[in-house]
Parts: sequence; structure tokens; C-alpha cells
Amino acid sequence: MSALRTLDDLLAEGVSGRRVLVRADLNVPLDKQTGAITDDGRIRAVLPTLGALVEAGAKVVVCSHLGRPKGAPDPQFSLGPVAGRLGELLGAPVHFATDTVGDSARSTVAGLADGQVALLENLRFNAGETSKDEAERGAFADHLAAFGDAYVDDAFGAVHRKHASVFDVPARLPHVAGRLVLREVEVLSKLTADPERPYVVVLGGSKVSDKLAVIEALLPTVDRLLIGGGMCFTFLKAQGLEVGTSLLEKDMVETCRNLLERSGGKIMLPVDVVVADAFAPDAAHDTVRVDGIPSHRLGLDVGPETVAGFSAALSQAKTIFWNGPMGVFEMPAFAAGTRGIAEAITKADAFSVVGGGDSAAAVRALRLDETDFNHISTGGGASLEYLEGKTLPGIAALEN
Ligand code: 3PG
Ligand code: MG
Repeated sequence: MSALRTLDDLLAEGVSGRRVLVRADLNVPLDKQTGAITDDGRIRAVLPTLGALVEAGAKVVVCSHLGRPKGAPDPQFSLGPVAGRLGELLGAPVHFATDTVGDSARSTVAGLADGQVALLENLRFNAGETSKDEAERGAFADHLAAFGDAYVDDAFGAVHRKHASVFDVPARLPHVAGRLVLREVEVLSKLTADPERPYVVVLGGSKVSDKLAVIEALLPTVDRLLIGGGMCFTFLKAQGLEVGTSLLEKDMVETCRNLLERSGGKIMLPVDVVVADAFAPDAAHDTVRVDGIPSHRLGLDVGPETVAGFSAALSQAKTIFWNGPMGVFEMPAFAAGTRGIAEAITKADAFSVVGGGDSAAAVRALRLDETDFNHISTGGGASLEYLEGKTLPGIAALEN
């Protein structure tokens, strides 16, 4: 990759009194009932960039998406609550525009004093943001670009999206990578370039289909690939085991069988799982061997023997990448697998990287010490696509 221009390059030019448009990924999880922010990790992750710009006297215009609204305003996806939290963390009020490129946005941006911060309403309230049509995206990008004299991309979690604010705006403004994007790229490039060995990857989460490309890309590179989470059941099925009513992607069984055959023994699967009567926090549950899953029960976590076996592999590692929970960690009865693996990662004498929204959220929800990991990525899909070696539109746009 060619060298990116960075925030420090922009700061060296002087930004006092200039409007700097910052694309952030403030797509934080919200409580379904109350709408409260349940994990503010992504907000905290952009503070270094925003703080530096504020200090340097820039007029800072922040934009982000939240959730997947369908190109029109949808109150449940408003960034309003995020503006409040961002202001608390910055220690100064954040001026919130109730639209993205309309009257409210224009007057909010025009009213900024040096060193003040504005947040625009959700980018995805506008069809142009995610449009596949270049002209439609371009027209929206023109509006956004009018709010900045320079552009900073600090939305690592969105760099894999060819969206207006990620891909088209940097073509219209002087552009640099923010502190978060730079750190993410530095860390992930260590994993792809020349990882210290053994290099052990732990993958979880619900779907094999989401992880297929990264499994294909990682198999030749890693020394061990440990698979847990909902996706392990499709692999167990591929080994000829019965998985009861566990999550199963029937159309992926053959693919999994093929991967197992080609993996040269690198893939490790669970040997025991926690099965329950229902997908519910208070469901009756037991630990069983993987060849004894009852037909009417479903697996919701990996079992203790699996944790012990995976932990032994992790204890040998010099480099670890972990993406995806081992079980339904949000329910205490099914959190032990994820907690056990997370703890094994922190104990290993290895360079450890946690990738992804869910695994990062799990680290915080289980109240593990974030500083025990070398890096917790803010990107789920983005970090996986980086490891796959794909060209990421947001990074490519910064390189141009
Ligand atoms: C994420 O949560 O993975 C990023 O914010 C990107 O969101 P998206 O998958 O809806 O594009
Ligand atoms: Mg995603």
C-alpha cells in the first residue's frame, strides 16, 4: 500500500479556522427498548482525531451512519443520542444538525466557531449515500463536500463500503487518514505481512457464509484456525454429526466439508457444547459431547473441554486474531465459552487483535480489561475484508 497522508500532515498545514469534515463510524449498538447506547467504544475511538482538530482550532464537522435506514429519515436511527454522548466525552457541547445536508446542516456548519464540533444527522437518511448509481452518489457527495475545506476519514468500520461519504467525498476534497484509520491499518497489516508464529485465528459468530471468504484467505496463512459460535454447527454437520435444532446453514455443509478436507488439520472444532431447550436466557441447558447433541435441543455455547483445548492452542501462539463470539454471550448461561476464549487470549504471550463489532462488544460487556489486548478493532466487516486482502474503497480513495 502506498503511504497515506495523515492527520498530522493536515495539522502541520494548519487548520485553525478551517472547516474539516470528518467521516466517523459512530454506528453504536442501541438498546432495543430504550434506545440507549449500550457500547460507546466506537465513539471513544474517534476522540483522538476529534480532540486534535479541536485543539488546533478547526471547525469540525462530523458525519456518520447508524444502522441501516433505507435512504429516508427514520427516528429510531437518529444520531441525536450519539451527539449527546460525544459531547460528554469531548467535554464540550456538540452542535447537532437534524438533517444531513439540508437547512439545519447548513446553518449548523455556518454557525461553528473555531474549535467547535458539529454532528450531522445520519448519512443513510439520504438515498445518495449508499446508492450504486455513481451520479446519485456523486450529487450527495457534492453537498457533503461543501461542508469542508478538508476531509478526514476516521471511519475504519466503514472503509469497506463504496459509499458517498467514504469513497466519493475524498475525491472532492484534500483528504487524509485519521488516527484511528491509521492505527487499524498499521495493526492489521502486521497480520497480513509477516505474523510471528504460531499465528492462531479464532472465528465465531453465527454464519459460515459471512466468514467463508476470510476462512479461504486465512487457511494458507495461519497455523491454527479455531472455530466456535453458531457457525461451528455447520462444520460439525459436515463431519457427519447431528446438531439437533442448532443454527445450521444447510447449503454450506458441502463447502465446510471441503474446507475441512483441505485444511491440513489446521481447523479445530468444538468437542463439547452447551445445548438448551430454547433460545432464551432461562432455558434449561446441559453440556454434551458433540456426538451426543439431542435432536430437540440447540447449541448456544462451546463447552469447557473445548475452551480448554482452544486455550492450549492459544497459549502457544505468538500472533492471535479473534473475530466472533463463541456463544450467545449476551445471556449469562451461554457466556462462559466467549469469556474463556477471551481470557486465554489475554494470557497468551502473543500479539493479540480483536476484530469486529460483536467480539469487541463482548470484551466490554463481559467487563474484560480492554488493555489486555494489543488492539481491539472498530471494524467488523472491514477488518475481515482487510485480512482477505480485498481492496477497501475507503482506503483506496485516501491513497489517490
Ligand atoms: C459495522 O457496524 O460493521 C459498520 O458500521 C458498517 O456498517 P454496515 O455493515 O451497515 O455498512
Ligand atoms: Mg456490519
